[in-house]
Amino acid sequence: MSTPDVFPPAAEVAASAHISSFQKYEEMYGRSVREPSEFWGEIANDFYWRVPPAQPFFKYNFDVTKGKIYIEWMKGAVTNICYNVLDRNVNDKKQGDKVAFYWEGNEPGDATSITYAELLKKVCQFANVLRSQGVKKGDRVSIYMPMVIELVVAMLACARIGAVHSIVFAGFSAESLCDRILDSHCSLLITADGFLRGDKLINLKQIADEALKKCSEKNYPLKKCMVLKHLGRDDLICDGTSKSSPPCKRLCQNIQGNKQDKAKRAVPQTTWNPSVDLWWHELVKNASTECEPEWCDAEDQLFILYTSGSTGKPKGVVHTVGGYMIFTATTFKYVFDYHHDDIYWCTADIGWITGHSYLAYGPLANGATSVLFEGLPIYPDISRMWQIIDKYSVSKFYTAPTAIRLLMKYGEEPVKRYSRKSLKILGTVGEPINPEAWLWYYNVVGEKRCPIVDTFWQTETGGHVLTPLPGATATKPGSATFPFFGVVPAILNESGEELEGEAEGYLVFKQPWPALMRTVYGNHERFETTYFKKFPGYYVTGDGCRRDKDGYYWITGRIDDMLNVSGHLLSTAEVESALVEHSSVAEAAAVSHPHPVKGECLYCFVTLRDGHEFTSSLTDQLKKLVREKIGPIATPDYIQNAPGLPKTRSGKIMRRVLRKIAKNDRELGDTSTLADTTVINQLFENRCKTIH
Ligand code: WTA
Repeated sequence: MSTPDVFPPAAEVAASAHISSFQKYEEMYGRSVREPSEFWGEIANDFYWRVPPAQPFFKYNFDVTKGKIYIEWMKGAVTNICYNVLDRNVNDKKQGDKVAFYWEGNEPGDATSITYAELLKKVCQFANVLRSQGVKKGDRVSIYMPMVIELVVAMLACARIGAVHSIVFAGFSAESLCDRILDSHCSLLITADGFLRGDKLINLKQIADEALKKCSEKNYPLKKCMVLKHLGRDDLICDGTSKSSPPCKRLCQNIQGNKQDKAKRAVPQTTWNPSVDLWWHELVKNASTECEPEWCDAEDQLFILYTSGSTGKPKGVVHTVGGYMIFTATTFKYVFDYHHDDIYWCTADIGWITGHSYLAYGPLANGATSVLFEGLPIYPDISRMWQIIDKYSVSKFYTAPTAIRLLMKYGEEPVKRYSRKSLKILGTVGEPINPEAWLWYYNVVGEKRCPIVDTFWQTETGGHVLTPLPGATATKPGSATFPFFGVVPAILNESGEELEGEAEGYLVFKQPWPALMRTVYGNHERFETTYFKKFPGYYVTGDGCRRDKDGYYWITGRIDDMLNVSGHLLSTAEVESALVEHSSVAEAAAVSHPHPVKGECLYCFVTLRDGHEFTSSLTDQLKKLVREKIGPIATPDYIQNAPGLPKTRSGKIMRRVLRKIAKNDRELGDTSTLADTTVINQLFENRCKTIH
């Protein structure tokens, strides 16, 4: 039997869904764009406001030719997002005893959970600590932590006192952390001693120390660094007397094994600077568990999250309190068709936007129970994900195409070791999902019972903007289908004309929804230039998109100099500027290249300075350099020697040509603007000497 092109929503899901038919979706969607103030106003009524929103409910200008770009929702209304996601659930909805998070550590067996009431207490306690350390409304706080409950505590504590959190993914390097601290002028860093990632031990404090040293060298000494004892927790450490078989995997104070074992499992030393460093557990010891929230304007800044920019320097995407709150809550409710008894698991790290919106704020605003997983999909064995799904009876599961492709490699057997009978809805995010991975997810993981929601969105959009609704939308593998409520997409051609019907071009949005970013931190002009200048009157996503004859949207990938490695956006310019810092490299060009698991990977061309030789030791050094400058996710897969690079007469590198060379595809298209065609043959020849 051939595979169908369209998958109608499963009847059982539709029967109890909030949006149970496509007709209902269309009615609600129509209203959301015709009467956005009324539509979102009713949703806002479900939240607690000190001063409720008044008219006009929102205001904006998307047209650079008419003046400054701005977006405001519910300005003048007063609330607190932490109060809404915690106190409202505990006090008004009487669900203090409900589990907010099941925490599952890297090591199986290392697990705990926290209820809404307990989470509220911990957040209040830490909020009091922050206040007592002098953190005030509007101050920026940098958070560099592993996937632990305290990361959520830290972010919500900031939100409670009106401080702006800037979370930096714990896989980023010291240099990246330093850049982000400097860019947003953070007054404080919150980190942890370290964590385990698979069988790798990450001494996070050491990296944080390096970052702080770099900040000091740049005349920005941070006065305080709060450190969570996570790796050094007593329950994770054995005293070396355990004779269990197989040997216990915990960290060990008195390790007997060989050198390698010691390197892996010995408790790392936490370096300590008493004038700066403060232990989290000591700070909270005497702090009160009650804390009056700081009442904030809906348009006060909630957080900054850095995302790659095509010029190389990351952009601090700013989200504000009110709009982000109502939009993440609403998308979570409808896209995952959330019901009170669901157990939800989003595998994204909180250091990325998916973790912010759909592991923290969205689920908590709905009073949901989530799994928070510290570890890796295939550690300690390739069934870990499915084992966790059965352990917690996960009903809604949200992951990235790269994880699906990785798990697919091991076939169906590891999946089938576990029943997965609790699963109802499966989601994906982060990059276009190839139909083969979609079908495997649908057929094998979900056993054809579970609708797939392929959610397209960006750090900038705050929440889902193109997505199916599981009880309403018939899906097509690889398509993010239709716009969410309040979102009005269009496809433009190069001249900025809106294309109707079947079409392909630039994906743009015509009006704001509540969670669209408000500015680039400290650089509003960059915000305007990046997203609004190319086509005045529209928010430009940077993605290409096709609309098929049935009106379905298909994201075709980035059309700027960005690439998407394992669902993480990287800028080629950022990688290039790291490469040219090496003394042997005169010039570098990085392009995206297809990769079976990561989706895309980095293929780099380097032109060496005279007298320098292209060797495997050099490529090792270059890879290390990129890892140090940006982080392990940016490590190039291929580095090729390029005595010359293909350039236009005006000196612009022709990346389109380089992408073809990387793929060994000789159909180069139009090369008439190329200044020197002889470099091309040389580059094709050098492909075989590429090192990866
Ligand atoms: C890509 C992640 C196709 C896209 C939430 C976008 C996707 C970038 C999808 C944003 C999807 C994300 N289908 N492409 N379902 N989801 N993308 O800021 O290129 O890390 O612009 O936000 O990822 O990545 P970001």
